[in-house]
Amino acid sequence: MAQSEEVFVGSIDQGTTSSRFLIFDKQGEPVAVHQEEFRQIYPNPGWHEHDPNEIVTSVENCIEAALKIFEKDGHKKESIKAVGITNQRETTVCWDIKSGEPLYNAIVWTDTRTAALARELKARKGSDKLQDICGLPISTYPSVTKLLWLLRNEDKVRKAYEAGNLAFGTIDAWLIYKLNGGPKNNVFVSDPTNASRTMFMDIHSLKYSDKTIDFFSYEFDLRKVHMPEIVRSADEKAFGKLTSGVLTGFPITGCLGDQSAALVGQKGFEPGHAKNTYGTGCFLLYNVDTKPVISTHGLLATVAYNFDGKPVYALEGSIAVAGSGVKFLMNNLGFSSQSHKISELAETVSDNGGLVFVTAFSGLFAPYWIDDAQGTMFGLSHHTERGHIARATLEAVCYQTKAILDAMEKDSGHKLSELRVDGGMSNSELCMQTQADLVSIPIVRPKMRETTALGAAIAAGFASGVWKTFDELKEVNTAGQTTFQPKMNAKDSAKMFKKWERAVSMCKGWVA
Ligand code: G3P
Repeated sequence: MAQSEEVFVGSIDQGTTSSRFLIFDKQGEPVAVHQEEFRQIYPNPGWHEHDPNEIVTSVENCIEAALKIFEKDGHKKESIKAVGITNQRETTVCWDIKSGEPLYNAIVWTDTRTAALARELKARKGSDKLQDICGLPISTYPSVTKLLWLLRNEDKVRKAYEAGNLAFGTIDAWLIYKLNGGPKNNVFVSDPTNASRTMFMDIHSLKYSDKTIDFFSYEFDLRKVHMPEIVRSADEKAFGKLTSGVLTGFPITGCLGDQSAALVGQKGFEPGHAKNTYGTGCFLLYNVDTKPVISTHGLLATVAYNFDGKPVYALEGSIAVAGSGVKFLMNNLGFSSQSHKISELAETVSDNGGLVFVTAFSGLFAPYWIDDAQGTMFGLSHHTERGHIARATLEAVCYQTKAILDAMEKDSGHKLSELRVDGGMSNSELCMQTQADLVSIPIVRPKMRETTALGAAIAAGFASGVWKTFDELKEVNTAGQTTFQPKMNAKDSAKMFKKWERAVSMCKGWVA
């Protein structure tokens, strides 16, 4: 095909630690990429914030820089048919609907300042009924607790609420609003994969739930808060268009929370398909078809995607700390300045030397949901080297993935035959082999691991006619995958996991 006939799709990937813009061709290959990190703000132990304006600026910078690469390679920007957005989920932004200015930093999904509030909410009558409606249990994780905390504790937020000007949104809603020019055009929307992370959405109807909103309105009437309209994940019009920068006028036609996007990018379109993304955190999503499965074993029900009004659902196992554990070794303990060196360090020892590291920096998420768990190392001795600590940090994610798969099997009555993986930590051969050994099924890693961004491009490409059917994506990202087969004997892996479970049972209750 002549270059002038080629079509491309842009993808904004707004993650927890960095923003990126990628441009994909129709074969699903990224032809231009730019990434920018932004500030991680930790004002108090357990608190984690982002500056919402910095997030927008980082996205704009990435678009500009990636486009430069794209054009330098001889492509024309007119061949970009649409732009998709994928984003960190649950992270909560409050802004003034009139001025479009943020009222406080974004409270990030990892933040645990709401632990006491979550306990208070759990103790209220009717709290046990919420998960059946919205798919999530009360914890520090969903957006609702962050919004309630801001209403209680931040004057600016409360004043905007009292004046009827308080807008609340997850990062997708904030970005779409700002990229569309803010209050001038007031494009204020969210897709169901993001809205399902707030606790305000009825997961069955994909509409706001009066029941959950009433439950959370005992101190502030949440009906007075402006919330984004929930629209489909692929839509030609609803997300508006870019109103400034090098892609001014280009339509945004797709939006997916990052974990749903990774499932789409891994082409997890059939019930029974599952993927595990080892990013800042680690998230296992399992396609359960067209009806949500409400977990009774510590998992979440979430929306996988809604491209055409027929939503597809997933069971999710969320792990709060994965790549952020590696970053902790680098930034806080000075182990190395490059993440791949942590895996190399872990390879300098033949096993964990008896060390178990429960990396519970945000409490423990699925399937445990222990909000007062704290990061704890068990089994330190004179034998312990930095290699053991590195190895135990990688293993912590693998153990939690094993616990999640066990829970998934119980919820779904189905055992997975393989697990597709992606995300930064999946680059570690050691980590992926350990994962295969612990879950006793093959781990399949694609060659092109930008699956989250690819998922958003697929959503945008569906709405803009670049692709029309799932069938057309059959060949996308299939060549060159690596399969890690389980090698460890079942007895040894069971022994390792038992030790982990013991460590989990001992890592809580430290916070007074
Ligand atoms: O739910 C939080 C999740 O969306 C963040 O993903 O890729 O930053 O670990 P990630």
